[in-house]
Amino acid sequence: MSIHSEDSRRVTTHRLLEMKQRGEKISMLTAYDFTMGNIVDKAGIDIILVGDSASNVMCGNITTLPITLDQMIFFGKSVVRGVKRAMVVVDMPFGSYQGNSKEALASAIRIMKETHCDCLKLEGGEEILESVKRILSAGIPIMGHLGLMPQSINKYGSYAVRAKEGDEAEKLIRDAHLLEEAGCFGLVLEKIPAALAKQVAAELTIPVIGIGAGGGVDGQVLVLHDMIGLTQDFSPRFLRRYANIQGIMNEAIEHYVEDVKSGDFPSDKEQY
Ligand code: KIV
Repeated sequence: MSIHSEDSRRVTTHRLLEMKQRGEKISMLTAYDFTMGNIVDKAGIDIILVGDSASNVMCGNITTLPITLDQMIFFGKSVVRGVKRAMVVVDMPFGSYQGNSKEALASAIRIMKETHCDCLKLEGGEEILESVKRILSAGIPIMGHLGLMPQSINKYGSYAVRAKEGDEAEKLIRDAHLLEEAGCFGLVLEKIPAALAKQVAAELTIPVIGIGAGGGVDGQVLVLHDMIGLTQDFSPRFLRRYANIQGIMNEAIEHYVEDVKSGDFPSDKEQY
């Protein structure tokens, strides 16, 4: 029996479904390393996403496309070591699942074996359904991701709100049902009209987590670095900044530099 299943406090797919059924909102944040994963877990978050937004936030890339499977495994492993209660979801990076379902399963198995995470998230609907079904058939839980899918940024040409119009909105609803029918345990909806997200959440029995998708869904996810103000250059309308950690860090580092230059640090008490 795994350590996870022995811990009754651990967040599982089953517990998330129960939360949706009783109307309890689900909280989800990203983390990419041991320390942040540990802090976020101890604060009581339900789901930690090792998002491929690590490509931007941790690696400094402009898009999520360059991050590799090896890099996602490195970040995933680091987070899992710091987490006791939250469910840990790892994003499958661009290129690791779109080719064919056999490659998708091989990538999924590598992430599960090497990170010990709980489940995976993939972007897309009908186009990747074969891969989704193959991964699910191996007993690996999957969270879908529809709406704005950053791995498709070169197709869209911008990070504007998706599925505003008829055809795209209808496809999104169809895809959401296909993912639920295939057996996904949850779905992320990114940057779509609140009314559409609310409709999808009401039609599906699985939990629907939104980012820029309004309050009518079953939970919310944000990128940790954005919501604590560690990053400052990304300010979409949907983002609420709960702290100014960059400001606090700047002040502390400036103070330290001053103290080193002036000889104030280290003091007599701070040496052997
Ligand atoms: O990679 C990520 O951080 C995500 C969230 C924006 C949902 O997919």
